[in-house]
Amino acid sequence: MNISKRLKTIADLVDTKRVIDVGCDHGYLDIYLTLYKNCSCIASDISSNAMKSCIENISKYNLNDKIQTIITDGINNIKIKKEDTIVISGMGTNTIIDILNNKELSDTIIISSNNHLEELRRFMVSIGYYINNEVYILEHGIHYVIIKFIKGNKLYNDYDYILGPIVIKDNNYKKYILSHYKDILNKIPSKNDGLLNYYNKIINYIETESI
Ligand SMILES: C[S@@+](CC[C@H](N)C(=O)[O-])C[C@H]1O[C@@H](n2cnc3c(N)ncnc32)[C@H](O)[C@@H]1O
Repeated sequence: MNISKRLKTIADLVDTKRVIDVGCDHGYLDIYLTLYKNCSCIASDISSNAMKSCIENISKYNLNDKIQTIITDGINNIKIKKEDTIVISGMGTNTIIDILNNKELSDTIIISSNNHLEELRRFMVSIGYYINNEVYILEHGIHYVIIKFIKGNKLYNDYDYILGPIVIKDNNYKKYILSHYKDILNKIPSKNDGLLNYYNKIINYIETESI
């Protein structure tokens, strides 16, 4: 089966037997993981329409007895084990934080958030995870950073949170994020010293220190 580069990247990061795919929508990730990585998946979504299409797709591949489905908000009513992987992909950081906050979680969590990656990294570290891997991809003109968090501690500085300690070493990402920050810098009024200083520091860090 063909899945998007983004979903394939997520699938490649999975190395546990059981996966809880939160916000599964069409269920393609679950189908791929079941067929090609022999995973046992729980596909969950808050939307009954999304779940309808997920169940139709699961049926097309005859996997009804292999993939469990549940309509629920986040991970409510799902018994998570430490050895599982939780995947959350295609939502914003605020929703992701709402889903994960104050819950029993697995030791491995893979997230592809649509926005606010600094806030996401800070939150995940604050609840006891470190950044195990970060992969940048560009698909259909959209830039994605997929982050794998694992239970444990590591110290990070502000640049790590803002830029990603692993992904910033990827030259393609570096090129993209540098031009992104330069675009922002060019739009800041010259009287706004604080903001100019902030962005100049980040650009300087990317250009000189993030090797
Ligand atoms: C853009 S789709 C992403 C689908 C898939 N995960 C992917 O990455 O291709 C977002 C999905 O998340 C679901 N969703 C949004 N908020 C949710 C929540 N609080 N709990 C569970 N699912 C949620 C939506 O119904 C939708 O199906």
